[in-house]
Amino acid sequence: MKRVVSGIRPTGFLHLGNYFGALRNFIKMQEENECFFFIADYHSLTTHPTPTDLQSNVRNILIEYIAAGLDPEKATIYVQSDVPQVCELSLLLSMNVYIGELQRVASFKEKVRRQPDNVNAGLLTYPVLMAADILLHHADMVPVGKDQEQHLEMTRDFAQRFNHIYKHEYFKLPVAYNFGSELVKIPGLDGSTKMSKSDNENSCIYLSDTPEVIRKKVMKAVSDSGPTEPGQPKTQAVENLFQLMKAVSTPETVHYFEDQYQNCAIRYGDMKKQLAADMTAFVQPVYERILELRDKDDYIRKVAREGAERARESAAKTIKEVREIIGIKSF
Ligand code: TRP
Repeated sequence: MKRVVSGIRPTGFLHLGNYFGALRNFIKMQEENECFFFIADYHSLTTHPTPTDLQSNVRNILIEYIAAGLDPEKATIYVQSDVPQVCELSLLLSMNVYIGELQRVASFKEKVRRQPDNVNAGLLTYPVLMAADILLHHADMVPVGKDQEQHLEMTRDFAQRFNHIYKHEYFKLPVAYNFGSELVKIPGLDGSTKMSKSDNENSCIYLSDTPEVIRKKVMKAVSDSGPTEPGQPKTQAVENLFQLMKAVSTPETVHYFEDQYQNCAIRYGDMKKQLAADMTAFVQPVYERILELRDKDDYIRKVAREGAERARESAAKTIKEVREIIGIKSF
């Protein structure tokens, strides 16, 4: 069994892009691996959410991941701040991390551009805390998207450096788990190539959207004036509609509209109606579980508590060993 660790940013509601990206693969991975999935609430403080937002975002993301299929019986699901040992590991690792290398990180430079008035130290040390998340449980694999690859590389650097400095082959070097061909790219409804709420709220279908909201959003999706000759290449917006259809509809349905397009007989209104219906059918069971779980506060608390207990056990062992290796002894 391989150990898998991944952090989840508690950022608002989950949309289909999130589902077909990381989430669906987490659900698969939990079957064959020993998984630790946590809500990265410490990390989210680097952008200063309000306390109420932080709390409700953590609770909400926990509910939505479980509703979508993350299973607390199979994976260890916890909230990062319930396992404060990660802070100690982060601190200890930071003693062998150089400011220069942190300043060169792409995500840091991006944040400096985006929030010039809030360039806090947490942003700078973000990769160290992330390395601590991963090394705390001796991960073999970390499922990461492209944007996180540099962070994972740094995790390996820090682990190797630790082993070298303290002359101990202690930390394993975790590798990226690449979803590769299994990754289905979900475009937006606004003609953009990636479903992302930072672009446009209406371009996203959320797992918690009602059928009515889904229908409205899909009917308003960007298309074009239609093909005028057979074999005409699709515009990006129409390509997107087909891409979305491939994700949620049957191959027969996709085939039917593909034929219609090729024959210049396609009516985007019909296609959108079908797409909305298929999206609704896809989202509905998750949506219903989300509603159910929102009322099951005791259950959600229990999941978080039990996950944290398991994670703390793993963390306490690592911290004890790391202290010994570094030479920290209590008197
Ligand atoms: N930085 C990750 C993101 O933005 C979240 C994260 C925090 C994470 N700690 C992690 C991912 C550890 C994998 C492993 O998505």
